[in-house]
Amino acid sequence: MTTTLDWNPLDPASIRDPHSVYQELRENFPVYWHAGMSSWVLTRYDDCQTVLRDYTTFARDRRRVGVEIPDEKLNIQTQDPPEQALLRGITAKALNAQRLRKHCVDARHLMEERLSALAGSGPFDMMGDVAGPAAMQVINRVFGVDEYTQNSYAPIYEGLTQAMDSGLDPKRLAPGRAAGKSLAAEVTSWYERGLGTSGMFGALYGNADVAQMPRPYVINTMAATYNAGFSTLYASTGAVTMELLGAGLGDLRELPLPNDSALVLATEELLRYVSPAQATARVATTPTEIQGVRIEAGDTLVTMLAAANRDPRQFKDPDRIVLDRSPNPHLALAWGPHICLGARLAQAWIMELITFLVEHGPRLRLIGGEKYMSSATLRNLVSLPVEYDAAS
Ligand code: HEM
Repeated sequence: MTTTLDWNPLDPASIRDPHSVYQELRENFPVYWHAGMSSWVLTRYDDCQTVLRDYTTFARDRRRVGVEIPDEKLNIQTQDPPEQALLRGITAKALNAQRLRKHCVDARHLMEERLSALAGSGPFDMMGDVAGPAAMQVINRVFGVDEYTQNSYAPIYEGLTQAMDSGLDPKRLAPGRAAGKSLAAEVTSWYERGLGTSGMFGALYGNADVAQMPRPYVINTMAATYNAGFSTLYASTGAVTMELLGAGLGDLRELPLPNDSALVLATEELLRYVSPAQATARVATTPTEIQGVRIEAGDTLVTMLAAANRDPRQFKDPDRIVLDRSPNPHLALAWGPHICLGARLAQAWIMELITFLVEHGPRLRLIGGEKYMSSATLRNLVSLPVEYDAAS
């Protein structure tokens, strides 16, 4: 289906508010050919879920449609089942064996310390001064390393994040590659120096299956996990904080805490609502049809997770935060064989973030002037000016 809709996802206005375009696409052009991306854009829940679930017809691994990927670039994100299953399983087990909740509680305490130091002292940046150090601490502890700080990691994170939109802006490819190389070199040195034996790396060292795998495959997967972890924890902290403070905390004040089941529901709802990972992509392996539109083998499909998560066909009152929404089968962490490998950590972190906002939100105020990274795939605040009132 073609349309005259003139949509550049990297336009700052679209990054600031992508939902008006998502709504128009979802209602009028649910299978939309975006010439700039050379891709079909899907915005309805059912279509996105089908594509993510049916990995036989819709591949993540582009080698299945004849694209060459050199062995040294492979990782679990470039493969599909059954090939990806072994290392994905080992990596997920290693991650989930870490003290995820404790790392998140410790990072909440770090945010609290930072806030106390800044109380009553005027404007500061919630992202740089509070969210960044917390997200960095979580991911470093999970990996059992401390080589990167928020500042030293910023260029890598920025290069990798912006390269996700290189389909729209090819200039982003070279800095993205340089950032990827630099991260892979660092992760290789951690691996070779035996760092991280106390974190998730430790579980990989002694693993006989891992020992048989090509080293770059393992390193690339670790690097992808490190970056996916930092970038999404950081982005979700900013998005949740901004949405909730912007709504005067909404119903959060009534949340019955401490109560894990209320927190779990609220976490899923906030993930649905903010959907930091706005989109992901697949390629059709055979000719097929979606909503009566013919898709050819080799065509790329962009599943707009953030749009699907506001589809009124699936979610009642989709533009409202309903903290006890249940069921809530959102796609914020995707679906199918590539569903977020760090889901438990993501959920543990949002639970701590909610706890933090329930306690400190009433004294924390948005003062405007927030800035987004020029990134359409990961919607990501880079600056969120706030003030924190001194205790009365
Ligand atoms: C709010 C936080 C998070 C969000 C919104 C999020 C979102 C996603 C999404 C949408 C995907 C699927 C991409 C696709 O299907 O193509 C994904 C995959 C992945 N995520 Fe997350 N994620 C989060 C946190 C994390 C964390 C904390 C980690 C690790 C520490 C992590 C590691 C990964 C990895 C390694 C994959 C690739 C899995 C695969 O391809 O099999 N994520 N994530």
